[in-house]
Amino acid sequence: MVANRLPVDRSVGADGVPAWRRSPGGLVSAIAPVMRRRNGTWIGWTGAPDEELQPFEEDGMSLYPIAQSAEEVALYYEGFSNATLWPLYHDVVAPPIYDRAMWDAYVRVNRRFAEAAAKVAAEGAIVWVQDYQLQLVPAMLRALRPDLRIGFFLHIPFPPVELFWQLPWRRQILEGLLGADLVGFQLPGAAANFVRLCRRLLDTRYSKQDVFWDDRVVRARAFPISVDVGELNDLVGRSDVAERAQEIRTDLGDATILLGVDRLDYTKGITQRLQAFGELFGDGHLRPGQAVFVQIATPSRERVEQYQLLREEIEQQVGRINGEYGEIGFPVIHYLHSSYDRSELTALYLAADVMVVTPLRDGMNLVAKEYVACRRDLRGSLVLSEFAGAAAELKRGAFQVNPYDIDGLKGTLLAALSAEPAEQARRMRSMRRRVIEHDVDRWAQDFLSELERPVRSVPSPVSV
Ligand code: ADP
Ligand code: G6P
Repeated sequence: MVANRLPVDRSVGADGVPAWRRSPGGLVSAIAPVMRRRNGTWIGWTGAPDEELQPFEEDGMSLYPIAQSAEEVALYYEGFSNATLWPLYHDVVAPPIYDRAMWDAYVRVNRRFAEAAAKVAAEGAIVWVQDYQLQLVPAMLRALRPDLRIGFFLHIPFPPVELFWQLPWRRQILEGLLGADLVGFQLPGAAANFVRLCRRLLDTRYSKQDVFWDDRVVRARAFPISVDVGELNDLVGRSDVAERAQEIRTDLGDATILLGVDRLDYTKGITQRLQAFGELFGDGHLRPGQAVFVQIATPSRERVEQYQLLREEIEQQVGRINGEYGEIGFPVIHYLHSSYDRSELTALYLAADVMVVTPLRDGMNLVAKEYVACRRDLRGSLVLSEFAGAAAELKRGAFQVNPYDIDGLKGTLLAALSAEPAEQARRMRSMRRRVIEHDVDRWAQDFLSELERPVRSVPSPVSV
């Protein structure tokens, strides 16, 4: 497995002693259980600059750390990955930065990951490369080790031709991805965007789902990622988790609880949901003490300017809404800028009456699926953006919303708040069926079986 992040992240505890903690984000949530259950080496970065470490074991996984200098963190990770590709692939909801020094660092760090994979992988092994930070690795690795079977999975959306076209290095990125045997996306539309781009930009021969490149067939397919249902089931069954959920309810004065759980990211639509919620008090639909919004926001990419701006905006907004509508002992929003362990998150999911997931664009959104997986009691409602990948699978059970439409969002929040238990159960049952049948093990199994399937040869030009 090759991913920018290792599953653990360097942190310094309250006692000043460095410790490992779980890395943030959906990629690690999904891949860690898969890797724990299979033998394999995970090549990635510890999240700290200038850290040269030997391979080590942690939490049942073999980890192979890749160092990044402070300059590379700034240019490759914060720069090209998170100030160029991240906004470009998410509908340019923030303006992407196109900077040549950032691109050079991206090439350099991708090469380091490819060389490490070439060194570690056994003869004929499967190498599975993850996400937008490492799109050049498949071709670099194939050049070094043609014996390997190489898969690539993109966890975030893949943009349409009109947006991808902006990227000054668009051709190099496509050629990098075409080093894989199988390129996986969250949704069929993203796979179609990729095939269309290859045709337009590289003039490749293609069929609906395949690109013919360099005498090979490169398959582009959708594999919607999912959650570890077994792990969440175990947590839901624990008495301490149930007690903690009850304690949260009591601490919040038995108000109706709306919950948001996100990395603090401008793609997540946090300001839109808080604005809509605040206006419901202004309009007299809700009263302080009757309903409360708990917004958990994991610190993320804190040195990238757009993330700093977002944090300021949200903190001001929370202050403004609480100042305007809260009463003594009854703030209307509880905003927590922190990361929590799995048992605390599960208790929050169990305590929440309405889960509010309103990204402006999201590859999948595992939080939505985690909430569904936790609600064995068939209670609670999910408000879900049409622009989350998860909407394709959960549309029948979720209260779907366009987060840009604040009036629509207000109406949908009210509908979710007033859903009767029978309606909640009907919706939850249909969503649970989907998530339980398509958990993260099934996702990994589907991807790997497709990767291992023998491929037909490249057809001759006349038959295309
Ligand atoms: P992204 O990958 O963009 O962060 P996802 O919703 O797909 O978005 O995945 C987020 C993952 O991070 C989920 O597994 C969620 O449980 C976890 N997570 C989000 N916020 C927190 C938090 N404050 N503390 C701990 N884990 C969190
Ligand atoms: C998303 C991305 C992952 C990334 C995660 C956390 O899930 O798809 O690749 O690891 O966010 O972001 P970070 O920048 O902290 O790794």
